[in-house]
Amino acid sequence: MKIAVFSAKRYDREFLEGANAGRHTFRFLEPHLDAETCSLAAGFDAVCVFVNDTLDASVLETIAAFGVKLVALRCAGFNNVDVAAATRLGIAVVRVPAYSPNAVAEHAVGLVLMLNRKLHRAYNRIREGNFSLDGLLGFDLNGRTVGVVGTGRIGVVFAKIMAGFGCRILSFDPMPDSSRMPQGTEEVSLDALFAASDIISLHCPLTPKNHHLINEQTIAAMKPGVMLINTSRGALIDTPAIISALKSGRVGALGLDVYEEESNLFFEDLSDRIIPDDVFSRLLTFPNVVITGHQAFFTRDALEKIAQTTMGNLAEWEASGVCANAVHAS
Ligand code: NAI
Repeated sequence: MKIAVFSAKRYDREFLEGANAGRHTFRFLEPHLDAETCSLAAGFDAVCVFVNDTLDASVLETIAAFGVKLVALRCAGFNNVDVAAATRLGIAVVRVPAYSPNAVAEHAVGLVLMLNRKLHRAYNRIREGNFSLDGLLGFDLNGRTVGVVGTGRIGVVFAKIMAGFGCRILSFDPMPDSSRMPQGTEEVSLDALFAASDIISLHCPLTPKNHHLINEQTIAAMKPGVMLINTSRGALIDTPAIISALKSGRVGALGLDVYEEESNLFFEDLSDRIIPDDVFSRLLTFPNVVITGHQAFFTRDALEKIAQTTMGNLAEWEASGVCANAVHAS
């Protein structure tokens, strides 16, 4: 098959070509796939896309007219694809449902440790010869209550690691599978989780229902000084609401790997440009906020798995027209 790989980075080329063994012809394209760039898909059988490509109905209509029959996501989340429109247009959508839940869970834990022990501040201080401990006070994780929102593949791993620190684990999931959670996990309502947790970590997908799950009202239901971690999708959090809560001290620490408007920022080197997003810039001013640029998945193990699963998806769909990792409209 001829496949246009959008939002392609050096590492995408390395891992996809490594797994390809000459079976398909890839064209690696730097731009995101969106309304402005979709003409680049002309002449290809499939497009291979990532989290910040925009496959709304109009983009899908354009690429369908070019003869594109398959969208292969190199990620798990598919909130950026209008799956109903794709189905209507006869375009199959396949994804990589699981590549390394460990990678994402371990990154979420990294954010917890960094924020709690102020490692980001300590790193800079020591380099400047400032050995003062003022402002670096943390707390023992042992005995603290951790709320896990979403107990799918990643939430389970995160819960297990935090249980290993001696934390009390509360979980909420509308479709719980308690057998996979660490022993002693208490399944509770979302309200109870918000009310009792010292640390809350989001591991649920972005759906219309989950949009701004964390908002002014839900923040008001949390423990004052709560630490909030989001490695899932940016729009789970109403960013202006969290900024107000950081200003008032209601939220004590915030760790983000994702951001509502990240598609204009993340994965690019903008270090010699002015960032026009004032909301994002405000977040960067808080000493108790740590942001990483959607790198939670970024381990060698995960990239190998993404490339292998993508190859498997392409082969399965090419051979039979169906794929176990297909996404269907709900
Ligand atoms: P999963 O599909 O295995 O689990 C998600 C769980 O969330 C399911 O059990 C579902 O029932 C639950 N859920 C849905 N709505 C909920 C709600 N309102 N409250 C609580 N739980 C809810 O997904 P997985 O693999 O664990 O991934 C979780 C999310 O992590 C993905 O949807 C994706 O957005 C994000 N992700 C982020 C990455 C990164 O690099 N930052 C990489 C991979 C995934």
